[in-house]
Amino acid sequence: MSKITMGDQVFVYPMPVVLLGTMLDKRPNFMTVGWISRVNYKPPLLGVGIGKSHASCDGILEKGYFSINYPNEDMIGPTDYCGIFSGRDVDKSGIFRLFFGETGAPMVYESSLSVECNLERTIDLGSNYLFLGSVVQSYTEGIYLTEGKLDIRKMLPLLLTMPDNSYWSVGEKLGDAWKIGTGYSKEEKQ
Ligand SMILES: Cc1cc2nc3c(=O)[nH]c(=O)nc-3n(C[C@H](O)[C@H](O)[C@H](O)COP(=O)(O)O)c2cc1C
Repeated sequence: MSKITMGDQVFVYPMPVVLLGTMLDKRPNFMTVGWISRVNYKPPLLGVGIGKSHASCDGILEKGYFSINYPNEDMIGPTDYCGIFSGRDVDKSGIFRLFFGETGAPMVYESSLSVECNLERTIDLGSNYLFLGSVVQSYTEGIYLTEGKLDIRKMLPLLLTMPDNSYWSVGEKLGDAWKIGTGYSKEEKQ
């Protein structure tokens, strides 16, 4: 076997980068998150893995809601800042233009997509909480859509790889999912 072992600190590759919005008492706060995934279809649920020491945990547990905001490539600087400095030490409320929807969670106006969630369940995993959020509403703008659907070429989201800790942009479209495989046959493999 010519495989090289990489240990247990290799996970999802790559990850999306989002800004998680919470209210710390009455102050909006944003933290950078890579550990996020869609985890259920009906009801629509998102899961985020958040270190217990982060101020955002206090906001989520106290208020029962949070938001997920997709930064675009231009927002790489402030996005990284929100992942370095804690709301316990700095006021991150003025970094972005804010808007609010139905839950009370602060959202980032400059984001291509914002999703507000109610806290559905909290699972204590040890170092982190897994917060499951039920999606209440999502917000975008016409400039990010093509024929009514979100267009990743217009959103220009950030991707993250760990443990090399690097940001990346999205590459080219390769094919249509749930379609290109229909023409595959095992004989083609050679
Ligand atoms: C690119 C990037 C991704 C991150 N992803 C996560 C994550 O998924 N979960 C987590 O707990 N912390 C993550 N962090 C660290 C937090 O964003 C960071 O500790 C932040 O300061 C916490 O903010 P808060 O204390 O205001 O909540 C990430 C940081 C960066 C730079």
